[in-house]
Parts: sequence; C-alpha cells; structure tokens
Amino acid sequence: MGLSNKQVQVLKWPYTGHTALICDGAVRTGKTSVMSLSFILWAMGNFSGCNFALCGKTVGSAERNIMQPLMGITYLREQFSLEYSRSTHQLTIKRGKRQNRFYVFGGRDESSYTLIQGVTLAGVLLDEVALMPRSFVEQALARCSVDGARFFFNCNPDSPSHWFYKEWILKVSEKDATHLHFMMDDNPSLTEETKARYRSLWTGTFYRRYILGEWCTAEGLVYSNFDRDKHVIHDLDPRGRFYISIDYGTHNPFSAGLWYLNGNTAVRMQEFYYSSVEHGQQLTDEEYYKHLEELAGKYPILAVVVDPSALSFIETIRRHGRFFVTQADNDVLDGIRYTANQLNAGRIKIHDSCVDCIREFETYSWDPKSESDKVIKEFDHAMDDTRYFCYTILQREWRGRMIS
Ligand SMILES: Nc1ncnc2c1ncn2[C@@H]1O[C@H](COP(=O)(O)OP(=O)(O)OP(=O)(O)O)[C@@H](O)[C@H]1O
Ligand SMILES: [Mg+2]
Repeated sequence: MGLSNKQVQVLKWPYTGHTALICDGAVRTGKTSVMSLSFILWAMGNFSGCNFALCGKTVGSAERNIMQPLMGITYLREQFSLEYSRSTHQLTIKRGKRQNRFYVFGGRDESSYTLIQGVTLAGVLLDEVALMPRSFVEQALARCSVDGARFFFNCNPDSPSHWFYKEWILKVSEKDATHLHFMMDDNPSLTEETKARYRSLWTGTFYRRYILGEWCTAEGLVYSNFDRDKHVIHDLDPRGRFYISIDYGTHNPFSAGLWYLNGNTAVRMQEFYYSSVEHGQQLTDEEYYKHLEELAGKYPILAVVVDPSALSFIETIRRHGRFFVTQADNDVLDGIRYTANQLNAGRIKIHDSCVDCIREFETYSWDPKSESDKVIKEFDHAMDDTRYFCYTILQREWRGRMIS
C-alpha cells in the first residue's frame, strides 16, 4: 500500500529544517504509523551513538501503538537490525557502524518521569501528546540537548483551552514548527466501509473531535448517543459473568448496578438507587450492605467495584467476606470516552427496570461554563457507577480495547 500525500509530507518533513512537527486530527488517519517511520529514518540518517525517546500515554500504549507497528515494517527490517528488549523497554537499531538507542516512556507512568530526567536525547516522539501531563512533555523536551534535536508530536483534538493547543498549535510559527492536520482520507488503507463504521462509533463532542478532527469545547449531553431504542432492553437472559458497580453516597444518592457480561454484551439487569434527601433518612454502611446483598440475590458475583473514595464501605464489604471487592479506576474523562465508545458499538444494554440509570443517561451533561472538559456534578451517580463498571471491569474483560 502506498502513502497518501499527507503521509509523504511527514516523511519529507525532516528536510524542512523546522524543529517540531505536529500532526493532529481524526482517529485512525495514519498519524502514528507514518510519524514513527519518519522519526526512525531521520534519527538513523543523521545520528549515531545517540538516545531518542518514543513516548506514549503509558509504556503499554507506546508498545502497542508505536513499537509493534514499527517492528512489522518490512522496509525497516530490510534496512536495519532492530532489537527490542521488553524488560528494559529499549529498542536498539543498527546499520553497519551506526547505532542508536530508542527508549520507550509512558507520559502517565510515574516511573517514566524520573527515568526521563536522567537521559540526554537527540529527539523525542510524543504519541497522543494531548493525553500526557504537561510536566512530562516539558521534561522530555528539556532533555533534548543534542544539536539538531527535533520534536515529533501527534494527537487527536481536545478542548481549545488544552495547554497543547494553546502552547503549540496556536504558536506554530513562534515555535519553529510545522502543523499537519489529518482526516480519514489521509489514510489510504481505510475503505469507505471502515470509515463509515468509525463515524458510527462517535456522536456529539467526540464526533467533532475524533471524526471531524476539530478542537472543540465539550458541550451538551455527555452520552448524546444514548438511544432508548438501541440501548434499553425489556427481556433478560442472565447468564455469563456477574458484577456489581457502586457509587457510594450518604448525603448524596447511592447507586448500585447489577451487571452480567455475556460475550460482547454487558447488561445492567437491575439497580439499587437511594437518595437520602428524598427518603428523609440516611443509611449506615451496614444498611447499604444489606441492600447490596439483596441486589446480588442468588447470582455468583465475581467482583463488586466501588468508588475508590468510599474506603469505609469497601472495608464493610470486605469484612462480610462474601464478595471480592475492588476499587474503581476513577479517571473520569478516559472512563467516559471508553463508555461512550462501547455504548456506540451497541455493547452496553440497560434493562428497562433501571429507571434511574436511564434518566441519568438522558440528562448527564458537560458543564458549559467550564473551559476544560468537566461534567456537571449533579444527577451523575448511576453514571459514575456505570463508568466504574465499564472502565474498570469491561476494560479488563475486553482487553482495554476501544472499538475502532
Ligand atoms: N499508508 C498506509 N498503508 C497501509 N496501512 C496504513 C497506512 N497508513 C496507516 N495505515 C494503517 O492504518 C491504521 C491506523 O493508523 P495509525 O494508527 O497510524 O493512525 P492514527 O492516526 O495514529 O490513529 P489514532 O488517532 O486512532 O491514534 C493502522 O493499522 C496503520 O497500520
Ligand atoms: Mg495514533
């Protein structure tokens, strides 16, 4: 398969003399693959005995998105000898006497921050840079002290108030950078059918960002794709693996969902939702525990996933000894993105008895007053427990894959 014109521009970019290359735009447009190739060819053509950094959101995502595709490029394997050590996360590339080392770092892995402080780099590639902490990115750039060092950035768009947009995309000329914007047509390997499928996976703010490639403010409904006809079911067939997810509250509502997971479908079959304000009475942890047992009924629950801040309730569940209890991953934005993606793919269904969850799906909104992505923290309790279930349990069960 050949390269698109946009991809050829990325390969030729090192000869422009600019210091930084920024590729942003829609998903699956071929940014990471062509940028990694361009980075390696530039590094091997101009340096020897130098260190470079290949950075992803985490070391795992860098290995998946950068390393694996790179190792699969026949041209690279024919031209160079490539050796990757999974234990030290180092790629050594050689041709004749020329040899360079490429370290893999994860912007969100705490250990990477410390490790990158100790190296001197001749170039850095930051894949999905908008998902990394600014401090990590600045540290990585500050390590580039070798003459002729370059920065390669790529990402999908986020909010226009995101630091990367303000500091780099809006200041392209000031930073001696080139900005290339990618759309799905820039990836020659995508068929019309595949493009149509990607379009169907996103709606609302996510559609504008991931399909139209726009840096836009999050507004309107968070799950604008929620559709009763598609997501609400009236019959149950409770088989498979059972879980319970909980958003804990004493003054605020307490929300729990009972789920079963069968193949590629997760069903919220029943829920318990308690608002102390509406009932005029707060419940104790032991009283909540009784409701949890009732919700579990006779089903073999594999794990109860709980809001990580509810430490006393987690301890109550543990002491009773019946359920395996685990703290939820509470990364709100990644969790929402993951949940929206699974919802669009039709893999999450809600039984019509779960009226509180359905009501919240239809009202849960982005905060229009906030500059960065923030949800309105109101009527979001079933949304939180649903997100805990999706992002903590489904991620593990379905191997962390976003559907694309
Ligand atoms: N010129 C090409 N020929 C063949 N396959 C390609 C080409 N360009 C990209 N691809 C393939 O298309 C898929 C998407 O490419 P890539 O991961 O580089 O996109 P991306 O823009 O980084 O996506 P995302 O924004 O989701 O990270 C990959 O499987 C990649 O191997
Ligand atoms: Mg990519």
